[in-house]
Formats: sequence, C-alpha cells, structure tokens
Amino acid sequence: MPSKNNNKKPRVLSGMRSTGKLHLGNFVGALGNWIRLQDNYECFFFIADWHALTTDYADTSRIKQNSVEVLLDWLAAGLDPERCIMFIQSHVPQHAELHLLLSMITPLGWLERVPSYKEQRENIKGKDLGTYGFLGYPVLQSADIMIYKADYVPVGEDQVPHIELTREIARRFNMFYPRGRSHVFPEPQPLLTHSPKLPGTDGRKMSKSYDNYILLADPEPVVRQKLKTMVTDPARVRRTDPGNPDVCPVGDLPKVFSTPDTIAKVDVGCRTAGIGCIECKGWAADSIVGALKPMQERRRKYEQKPRLAWDILEQGSTRARRVAAGTMNEVREAMQISKEYEAPAPAAAAAPNKND
Ligand code: TRP
Ligand code: SF4
Repeated sequence: MPSKNNNKKPRVLSGMRSTGKLHLGNFVGALGNWIRLQDNYECFFFIADWHALTTDYADTSRIKQNSVEVLLDWLAAGLDPERCIMFIQSHVPQHAELHLLLSMITPLGWLERVPSYKEQRENIKGKDLGTYGFLGYPVLQSADIMIYKADYVPVGEDQVPHIELTREIARRFNMFYPRGRSHVFPEPQPLLTHSPKLPGTDGRKMSKSYDNYILLADPEPVVRQKLKTMVTDPARVRRTDPGNPDVCPVGDLPKVFSTPDTIAKVDVGCRTAGIGCIECKGWAADSIVGALKPMQERRRKYEQKPRLAWDILEQGSTRARRVAAGTMNEVREAMQISKEYEAPAPAAAAAPNKND
C-alpha cells in the first residue's frame, strides 16, 4: 500500500549487517540491484551494526572496521551519496526507541515462528544465541523499516518472512493506536528481483561462513587462484569427457559476468569437450576481473581518504535521524506518551482546598 510521499518517488529502505568486505554474492544478490534503484526511488541504505551484535556480541573489536569495509564496497560498487542516503544504524538511536515500543506489542509466538530463528539457532555453533536480542532480531528489523515508513524493501528470498512480520507488526500498531481515521504506518512490500545463482568455489551458495567466496576487493591474482581451485562438473573427469555448464558451478559465472559470445563458447565447448576446464576458468576469471576493476579503482580512492567515506556516513545518518525523529513524534503521540502535557479538564468545580 505505497501511500504518503505524495507525488514523490516511492521510498526504498534496505540494510546489510556489518560483516566486513563484501563478496560477489552480496553484489549479485543485493548491492547491484540497489545501485539500479537509486534513480527511481528515494533510497535509504544502512549498515546494520546492531544486527551484527545479535550474533557477534562477545567480541566487538572488529565491528567498526567491518562497517567501514561495507561502506567502502558500497561506494566502490556505485552507491552515490548524491542519489541515496547511506547511514549507520547505531547513529540513529530512534531505531532503538521504536524497537522497544514494538517489542511491547509483538507476541512471542510470532518471533518463535520466524524460520531464520530456528534455523540459525540450530546451525550456528559456538555462540550462545539463546539471548533476548537474538529472538528480537526481526522486531529490530521491523523498526528499521517502519521508522522510515518505507514503501519497498529490496531483499533476498530468505528475508521475506521478516518483511511479512513487519507488515503484521505495523498492522497491529495501527489497530491499537489509530490516528483519527488514518494510521501512522504503511505496510511495506518486499521488492524481490530475480537474482542469478552465484555459487562459491566449493559449489555451495557463496557465503562468508563457508569460506568459499571471492571478495569485490580481491586482487587479480587472488581471483585467478580462487577460480583454479573451484569445483567443476563432476562428470567431466578427463579432458575428453563432455560436461554440462548447467550443472557446473564454474558454468554459472559466465552467465552473470560474461558477454553472450563467451557464454555461447563455454556452452558449446563444454558440451563437446572442445575446451578444457582450465581454459574455461581463465575466461571466467577474465570477466570477473574486468567487472571488479572499476570498483577497485574507486575503492582505492576512498581508502586513501577514509575520513571522507566516514563523513558520507555521518551526513547520511544526520538526514536519517531527521526523518526518524519525525516518525517518533507521531508514534509517541499515537501512543499518548508524547512530551506535551495537557491537564485533564476539571470534572466539576472542586471545593477549594483550605490549605491553598
Ligand atoms: N536482516 C538483514 C540481513 O541479514 C539485514 C537487515 C537489518 C535489513 N535490518 C534491515 C534488511 C531492514 C532490510 C531492511 O540481510
Ligand atoms: Fe565447468 Fe567450464 Fe569445465 Fe564445463 S568446461 S565443466 S563449464 S569448468
């Protein structure tokens, strides 16, 4: 129900946890899409450093540097401070206030049912995720989205249940605390774009936790080396065995990074055993290196002036705080906890107090 923002561009908000340098999977699955959204939407993109704390609370020594690395990759890839607002969650304390208020109205059962909750509690070993904060992760995410009254939230498939939950929390808030005949919060929609499959070097989904990734900042020799070790179609044991680029993880790369010519060459060459895997990996590396080159040049410029990048984040955070503060005024008013005090009208003329 994209409402408000009359005759303005619809508003988009999305975030990434501060996990350090980004990899090709982050680019293909999210960042590349964000860059395209900048022109047609009013975009807010933020670094979710508080969300990183829900799992990495025990050691915070890398958290700020990890946020800076994410920011550098954003700028390198082409997020443009002239065309979007980039900010950092912990510098907009209003997210925490809204999170607290939403936590009052969110039933525990809704949180226990979120698929990522059970999954991560079972899969992430070596960290105690039996915390209040981890259970509340999706409530914080709802606050992130609602505080900007975002119309659309570009996310991957795995995050859709979190957006659904946000819609339910917004609806519940609006029901408890109506504002005349209207309401404070719109219901945000996920913005799903089809993103191509991008396997890591071991053939599984590219991910920091699998150590199978290629970073946007990896220098050429590292990219080439990582590709050399990448798994291929297991049916192609010998050079003379034909393969199938649709089942080979390396075969997915040209589909994302290469020209139609190269894609066709790989397809025919692989199926007829006309090319070898080493040659094929070389082409994939060429395409990836070519795509990363302009990003790495831009990254280097910002790395030389780290203060400049941080200032961009600070300026974005100031703009975000302004919007967030406006929403919080409406929230406090709707909940009747605003700072203004209006004495209730005296019911009847009370007898004057003799002690006055
Ligand atoms: N949970 C998201 C992820 O892990 C990150 C995130 C936090 C987010 N708050 C958000 C994404 C708000 C979109 C909107 O990827
Ligand atoms: Fe995979 Fe390329 Fe080898 Fe075919 S030729 S199996 S696509 S690496």
